[in-house]
Amino acid sequence: MTDEVKRERLQKVLARAGYGSRRLCEEMVIEGRVTIDGEVAIIGDRVDPSAVRIEVDGALAPVAPGLVHYLLNKPAGVVTTASDPEGRPTVLDLVPDTPRVFPVGRLDLMTEGLIVITNDGQLAYDLTHPSKGVEKEYLAQVHGDPTPASIRALREGVALEDGMTAPAKVARVSEGVLRITIHEGRNRQVRRMCDAIGHPVERLVRTRIGGVGDATLKPGQYRELTVKEITRIATAVAAGPGDDQGHIDLAPVSK
Ligand code: URA
Repeated sequence: MTDEVKRERLQKVLARAGYGSRRLCEEMVIEGRVTIDGEVAIIGDRVDPSAVRIEVDGALAPVAPGLVHYLLNKPAGVVTTASDPEGRPTVLDLVPDTPRVFPVGRLDLMTEGLIVITNDGQLAYDLTHPSKGVEKEYLAQVHGDPTPASIRALREGVALEDGMTAPAKVARVSEGVLRITIHEGRNRQVRRMCDAIGHPVERLVRTRIGGVGDATLKPGQYRELTVKEITRIATAVAAGPGDDQGHIDLAPVSK
């Protein structure tokens, strides 16, 4: 195929990725919201979507053909690896086999909740790289009912064997249930933080990744992320640690 054949009208590429009708996408171009490799795009631009970096409102647009992005609600007892030597069910058993995808980051065997599964290497990098600081929110049902002083300790940082934790957002939702938002991604971090204040986790559910949550997705169910959600994650990345990355209210953990 010649380069000219591979190049398509920009608004067609954006519309196919889910940004709205071609007309709407044209408007986004006219408003100067779209860049191609850092240059503001103009009407009439043609692109090879697998060869250029297209941004909309400063966030990388997921326009390369064949990209898929799933949001899965992982049930407890499912492992977050591609295959398990012990033959336990994996998160990949819960999404389509093709195209080949991989989980972004990991949740412990007994942790439930939201995980992104994709073949988009750039998004995976953005979501997991510590320097990007994407917020992840958890509901933790803990043993006992932490005092305000313990909650303050979690907020300010607690000593773990691999160093102090960064400041976290922590709220008491109800007796023994904490909403904990962190932007580091250390191994078993929330469980170890709760251990450190003497309130071990009894149940842990991830409820939000960047600005993306979904309280309607049942355990074991997945859906495609919308382009808006992918953009929201990319924008959370651009905002960096410490910025408010949105918050949704969810039903408390039920027993
Ligand atoms: N923190 C944990 O302790 N476990 C997880 O699975 C995720 C975050």
